[in-house]
Amino acid sequence: MANVLITGCAGFIGSSLAENILKNLSHFFVLGIDNLDNFYDKKNKIENVNRLKEYKRFKFYELDILNIHKLYSIEEKIDLCVHLAGRPGVLKSIENPNSYYENNLIGTSNILNFLNAKKSRKIIFASSSSIYKCENNKPFTENKTKLQPLSPYGFSKMFCENLLDNFHDNFGFDVVKLRLFSVYGPNMRPDLAIFKFTNLILNNKSVNIFGNGMSSRDYTYIDDIVNGIFKSINFILNEKNICETLNLGNSSPVQLLKLIEMLSMKIEKKVNVINLPSNKCELISTFADISKAKKLIDFKPNIDLNSGLDKFLEWHLK
Ligand SMILES: NC(=O)c1ccc[n+]([C@@H]2O[C@H](COP(=O)([O-])OP(=O)(O)OC[C@H]3O[C@@H](n4cnc5c(N)ncnc54)[C@H](O)[C@@H]3O)[C@@H](O)[C@H]2O)c1
Repeated sequence: MANVLITGCAGFIGSSLAENILKNLSHFFVLGIDNLDNFYDKKNKIENVNRLKEYKRFKFYELDILNIHKLYSIEEKIDLCVHLAGRPGVLKSIENPNSYYENNLIGTSNILNFLNAKKSRKIIFASSSSIYKCENNKPFTENKTKLQPLSPYGFSKMFCENLLDNFHDNFGFDVVKLRLFSVYGPNMRPDLAIFKFTNLILNNKSVNIFGNGMSSRDYTYIDDIVNGIFKSINFILNEKNICETLNLGNSSPVQLLKLIEMLSMKIEKKVNVINLPSNKCELISTFADISKAKKLIDFKPNIDLNSGLDKFLEWHLK
C-alpha cells in the first residue's frame, strides 16, 4: 500500500481527486490535510471531508500548512504528495495579496521542508494558467510561452514553481508542476464564473462581466483534471530525477459571451449581460497546448464544454 498525502483535500479539486483515488486505486492510502478555511462556505468542505471519511483508507488531518510544527504530527510514511492547498482566485488576490503569498508560497515552502525532513521527495503541485503571458490568443506552451503573471495569485504560483525547481536541484525532489486551466464541474468552487453565472441566470438576475465578453477561457472538466493527476502520479512514482511542467487543459478555448449563451440556453432563461470595464489583472485568453502532457503522461481530455456543463447543471440542480 502506498501513502499519498493530498493537501487541500476538502476543496474542489482535492476532494474530487481523493474520492477518485479511494474509489478506483485500492493500493493507495490517502492522508488528507485541510484547514477548512472560510474562503467560501465551510459547509461544502465539511461535507466533502465527511464523504471521504466513509472510506477506511482515508485519514484526515485538520491543520494549517502555515503551522509547520503541526505538520510534524503526521507520523505516517509518505510516498508521494499532491499539493493542492492554497488560496485560489485571481480577482480576490488583488484585494489581499499577502494572504496569497502566505498561503501559497510560505505554505508550499513548509510542505517542502516537512517532506524533505521525512525524506519523502516526490511532489505534484497545482500551478495555474494565470502565470502565462497571453500573446495574440496563441496556445500556451510550457517551455516557449513567456511567464508574466498579472495578479498576486499568478505571482504566488510562479514563485512556488521556482521553489519546487530549487528543491529538485538542491535536495533531489522529483517534481511535476501541473498548470491547470479553469477547472469546472460538480462540486466546483462557488466563486468561479460558471457557478456564479448559473446562479444569477437561475435567479433572473443580470450577469456582470468585465470587458466586452470576447475574452476566452480553456474550461477543463474536473474528471479530465483528476485523470491527468492520476497519470502524473503514475509517472512520478515510476520515474527518477524528474522536474517537469505540464499544462492540463482542454485545449479548446470558449469566449465568455458564448459560455453565457450556452448556460442561458441550457437553463432555458434569457440573460441580461452588463459590461463593466475590463480588468487588468485577468488574462484576455487562456489556451493550453497539451502536446507535452500527451507525450509524457498520455493526457487526453475527454469531456467538451457542452457535455461538461450538462453534468455540472445536473449536479447543481440537485
Ligand atoms: N479550480 C481551478 O480552476 C484552478 C486552476 C488552477 C490552479 N488551481 C489550484 O488548484 C488548487 C486547488 O484549487 P480548488 O479550486 O480546489 O480550490 P479550493 O479552495 O476548493 O481548495 C483549496 C483547499 O486548500 C485549503 N487550504 C487553503 N489554505 C490552506 C492552508 N494554509 N492550510 C491547509 N489547507 C489550506 C482550503 O481550505 C481548500 O479546501 C489550488 O492550489 C488552486 O490554486 C485551481
